[in-house]
Amino acid sequence: MQLVNKTALITGGASGLGFATARNFIDAGANVMLFDLDPTRLQDAAQKLGGKAAYASGDVCNEQQVADAIAQAKQQFGSLDINVNCAGIATAAKTVGRNGPMALDGFEKVVKVNLIGTFNVLRLCAEAMQGNDGSDDGERGVIINVASVAAFDGQMGQAAYSASKGGIAAMTLPIARDLAKTGIRVMTIAPGIFETPMMAGMPEEVRKPLIEMVQFPHRLGNPDEFAQLAAYIVQCGYLNGETIRLDGGIRMQPR
Ligand SMILES: NC(=O)c1ccc[n+]([C@@H]2O[C@H](COP(=O)([O-])OP(=O)(O)OC[C@H]3O[C@@H](n4cnc5c(N)ncnc54)[C@H](O)[C@@H]3O)[C@@H](O)[C@H]2O)c1
Repeated sequence: MQLVNKTALITGGASGLGFATARNFIDAGANVMLFDLDPTRLQDAAQKLGGKAAYASGDVCNEQQVADAIAQAKQQFGSLDINVNCAGIATAAKTVGRNGPMALDGFEKVVKVNLIGTFNVLRLCAEAMQGNDGSDDGERGVIINVASVAAFDGQMGQAAYSASKGGIAAMTLPIARDLAKTGIRVMTIAPGIFETPMMAGMPEEVRKPLIEMVQFPHRLGNPDEFAQLAAYIVQCGYLNGETIRLDGGIRMQPR
């Protein structure tokens, strides 16, 4: 699928990897609907992106808010062709810490936003994409989810985050199989450690050992590099049902 004149709904689009993806897609001629929690940050982001960006605020776990954003994208731009699911949260807590076992509601919250929220958005986007005309080989849509290397080598304190991201990686193939007959491809990117607001808040003593684990290049990932892979996945029609690590060769150590 070429990006020109296509429309992408990007969750978490007000920040970090989602915002970089929106900018890359617009530069390639696409329209984007940013979906994120905070209307003020969304408005700022959309302003930076110009006339080919629209936005809707809401929670990825909320069925109606996501449905409304999809309807708005279709009304404003004519179709919905691409969905990139960048919205996510990261919290760290040990299974049993100094104050006892990890709070169950903390675990539930991370799984709810990252895993169930991703599934909620993609299932509603897939329904909308099914109505597209389709290309010569029947392609009607592309869905890109965002896991993490923590899906495979999660560190201490990452039980909830790893569970949520491992779920995203694991559901990629069955969803691709479910949607194959309507010509919708489903891929997942598992980023290593990227220079985004999520990481910027971390103190140097946390960042330094993380960078030391990266093989080459010896630095954090640039959000533009994530956006380049997302664009390539859209354009390369034979990619389907797989999770790609984008991580400079990092294999995370226990801590
Ligand atoms: N930055 C990294 O190093 C890194 C590494 C691996 C995976 N990831 C994943 O990549 C994705 C993007 O991360 P980022 O670094 O750009 O983070 P970020 O914090 O910069 O952006 C995430 C965005 O998601 C939004 N969001 C959170 N909960 C939401 C909800 N319930 N509904 C709607 N929007 C919500 C936030 O408001 C924020 O704008 C996340 O899923 C994260 O887990 C990031």
